[in-house]
Amino acid sequence: MTIRKVDKEDVWELRHQVMWPEKPFDYIKLDDDDLGIHYGLFKGSILISVISLFINNGVCQFRKFATLEQEQGKGYGSTLLDYVIKEAQNNDVKKIWCNARQNKVNFYKKFGLKETNSSFIKQGKSYVIMEKYL
Ligand SMILES: CC(C)(COP(=O)(O)OP(=O)(O)OC[C@H]1O[C@@H](n2cnc3c(N)ncnc32)[C@H](O)[C@@H]1OP(=O)(O)O)[C@@H](O)C(=O)NCCC(=O)NCCS
Repeated sequence: MTIRKVDKEDVWELRHQVMWPEKPFDYIKLDDDDLGIHYGLFKGSILISVISLFINNGVCQFRKFATLEQEQGKGYGSTLLDYVIKEAQNNDVKKIWCNARQNKVNFYKKFGLKETNSSFIKQGKSYVIMEKYL
């Protein structure tokens, strides 16, 4: 298993397949993708899990975190999230945050992220903003 930075094009397919398969492919592309740092976790040559960091003035948002469906629940996502939190720390990030899907709140709590008072609904899914000071 290896984790390394990848190009934005490398994360798009997994994002689409895992997060929004019912939407057109372009839906999962972000306007900011050129500014992101994209990470992939590989098992052999197969990309299993992806996440993208957007760092601005010591604050980091992670977005589009996705693990191949048949590989979920095996610890890959946790390994990747641990890794990028350390990467953020190495980049002098003071706060990391995300728009968490409501059903992932307990998962993120395991990494020390806390729910804020901000929540919203987008495309029929409920989200809460979660954050952690590093
Ligand atoms: C969120 C996501 C990226 C996590 O990736 P993952 O590779 O499944 O993550 P892990 O396997 O490390 O953890 C998933 C669960 O399995 C558990 N787990 C981890 N390793 C395990 C193991 N060896 N045996 C049993 N369970 C394990 C974790 O504790 C976690 O449990 P929880 O969800 O009840 O908190 C993945 O679920 C996903 O792609 N979901 C769809 C897209 C999505 O919702 N993205 C996040 C938007 S906020």
